Amino acid sequence: MKILAIETSCDETSAAVVESSPTGGITVLSNVVASSMDLHAKTGGIIPEVAARNQITYIIPVIMEALQKANIPFYGKTPPAVDSLALTYGPGLIGSLLVGVETVKTLSYVWDKPLIPVNHLFGHIYANWITSSSLRANEHERGKLELPQFPLIALVVSGGHTDLVLMKSHTEITWLGGTRDDAAGEAYDKVGRLLGIPYPAGPKIEQLAKEGNPKTYHFPRPLLYDKAYDFSFSGLKTAVLREVEKLTIDKRGGTTGTPVRVPGLNEYEGSHRNGVRSDRTPINNFCRGVQDAIIEVLVTKTLRAAEEFGVKSILLSGGVAANGTLREAFKEMLHTKYHILNTQLFVPAKNLCTDNAAMIGAAAFFRQQETPWQDVAANPELYFD
Ligand code: KG4
Ligand code: ZN
Repeated sequence: MKILAIETSCDETSAAVVESSPTGGITVLSNVVASSMDLHAKTGGIIPEVAARNQITYIIPVIMEALQKANIPFYGKTPPAVDSLALTYGPGLIGSLLVGVETVKTLSYVWDKPLIPVNHLFGHIYANWITSSSLRANEHERGKLELPQFPLIALVVSGGHTDLVLMKSHTEITWLGGTRDDAAGEAYDKVGRLLGIPYPAGPKIEQLAKEGNPKTYHFPRPLLYDKAYDFSFSGLKTAVLREVEKLTIDKRGGTTGTPVRVPGLNEYEGSHRNGVRSDRTPINNFCRGVQDAIIEVLVTKTLRAAEEFGVKSILLSGGVAANGTLREAFKEMLHTKYHILNTQLFVPAKNLCTDNAAMIGAAAFFRQQETPWQDVAANPELYFD
């Protein structure tokens, strides 16, 4: 069974062709992603109107390229040889979602193909069922088992979400908790903005943190010991701002103001003064402090849930799961600190953590909720159903 999947929830326009593999996983025949991220980097964050306009520009070329790369001939109005169409119908930015939803509904009508609407959050989780050898995280990162086993705990950590979900099967799903304010990715991006790092700041903060001193800053870890599986990351940016202010005030010799720009701090690419690279330590230390706080909370809460529910698999997913230090921390803590021996960690390949249509195709395959096109509507507020 072949599925043509389309994802347009935010600033990526993506189309993919996927099929089921004999092992029960999902093989990706093509996965094309066009992004308007560079435009948003210039403005320090996503401007929904700009994202939606770019979805319109990219959507048809991206779908055609995905079919072409999957070697599926596509002539004029003749329907391509796929069995179903899948699409993200929420959550996300309404303008971006509408472009994908209305395009795919039209294709479903014209080609007379079944339509499977997919919740973007499940898409992230189901990236863990993709088994194409070129698109799999290596064994060092995800262990030997081919496919996740139920019951499992899934952590979704993206720019818009931080959620813990217990899945006893593909259909028995319990939401355990989520963020009360900012998502983990949002915390990376907001701190990045404060430090002069362009959107999306996650990958750059990860890189800069590697050279930071773990002892310089100990930022708050809210709700760490709270029994509920909720998260809170909005205090991080305020805590960082306070430290940045201290540093700036010192450097300015006691002056006040709104010091979010620190000399030697914002030039994170490594500025050169008289041919000598300036001191990058402050920003490295900030990044290290922030990342350590985020990772400790995510790892501790997820592993506590894994212990409580005695799960067989832990699945990481969403853009923040592309973070190598986070992946390492999970692997390390699972066996050494928590001694959860019969549970295996799953992580998607890094390029399947951030938004893509292959994960939407994978989720469509397992959840199989075919819906008449007349009944499909974009839902920006969709949550775990
Ligand atoms: O899943 P995603 O592509 O989009 C949403 O559905 O939100 O996630 C994007 C988020 C951004 O906040 C970005 O900063 C974060 O994922 N991200 C990372 C890394 N790569 C992307 N955060 C930390 N470390 C990374 N390597
Ligand atoms: Zn996403």
